[in-house]
Amino acid sequence: MVRSVVKTRVEFGIGATGALPALVDDLGYRRAFVVTDNGLRATGVLGRVLRTLERAGIPYGCYESVRANPSVSIIEEGGQVLRRYGEAAVIGVGGGSALDAAKAISLQAAGPGADGQPVIAIPTTAGTGAETNGFGVFEDAGRKVYWGHESVRPVAVVLDPELTVGLPPRVTAVTGVDALVHGIESLSSPRADSESIRYAGRAIAKVTRWLPVAVRDGANLEARAGMLLGAHLAGLALTRSGLGLVHGFGHAITARLGVSHGLALSGVLEPVMRYSASAAAPAYAQVALAGGHGSALGLAGELLDRVGVRPTLAQLGVTRELVPELAAAALADPVTDNAPLRPSDQEAIELLASAL
Ligand SMILES: [Fe+2]
Repeated sequence: MVRSVVKTRVEFGIGATGALPALVDDLGYRRAFVVTDNGLRATGVLGRVLRTLERAGIPYGCYESVRANPSVSIIEEGGQVLRRYGEAAVIGVGGGSALDAAKAISLQAAGPGADGQPVIAIPTTAGTGAETNGFGVFEDAGRKVYWGHESVRPVAVVLDPELTVGLPPRVTAVTGVDALVHGIESLSSPRADSESIRYAGRAIAKVTRWLPVAVRDGANLEARAGMLLGAHLAGLALTRSGLGLVHGFGHAITARLGVSHGLALSGVLEPVMRYSASAAAPAYAQVALAGGHGSALGLAGELLDRVGVRPTLAQLGVTRELVPELAAAALADPVTDNAPLRPSDQEAIELLASAL
């Protein structure tokens, strides 16, 4: 079977979680193994998913120790638990970290060179798009490592806005910024194609329209649905086109300072866009058009302002002394190879220093 042509089944809408037992059944599995964020049970969101399995009589195992920016050791531990549990559909429930971990744990349990067991993804934040591809980002001794395989690209995705209504405004905002950046970097990528451009444009339109509403009124299901779909479309775009320098710097800041992914991106988005403008002019025109704004930079700045996430790098903990190290880490990150304009060491340092 050629995995890359297998279409992902997407269940989208209020109450879509109810489709989960049928998804497990259609995969030919009688048991499930749930991988989730530490803390998701306490919010009640995990319970909603588990009850759906229980009502359908599907036994399940659980690995609940995933934390933000998961380390490779978490994947090894989760892989052992899944290996002991045995044959099961793997269900990732949570933010990007949980979904990334579910994919990697499935792969880890299978052992070297083997395909992972099929993964179903249920995002409970709207931003990362981790449900659209078979890869994840993990931390290994302060460095970001990419790990994954086509066999663990989710075969089914549940996008249920009801699972995201409890997200606090701040989390809604910073995770939503991730989706915005995915749209912008995807459009600016040298590898953009007609399909990724279409997805990214629609993603930017949705995020611009719905993120401020979702931040202001978390119970607005139309806004929550718009954000889940926007983040998913942005994920489909970036999976084809790759990302760029905003993510290069963002990864470096997160790995060094423990700042959340979306917040780190929000601190570098505008400086990187200013730096890249000469090389990315046509892409930025598409960004502006998609967001219904006169300029891409204006769109980004205003949206960050409206959702209250527009920090300086100093506010994120970046100091002048840290700048050379962060610049070097960003340039060493493979994601940066895809930037429309790749800075030299000196330019990367100046770019960061200008945003302190
Ligand atoms: Fe991202």
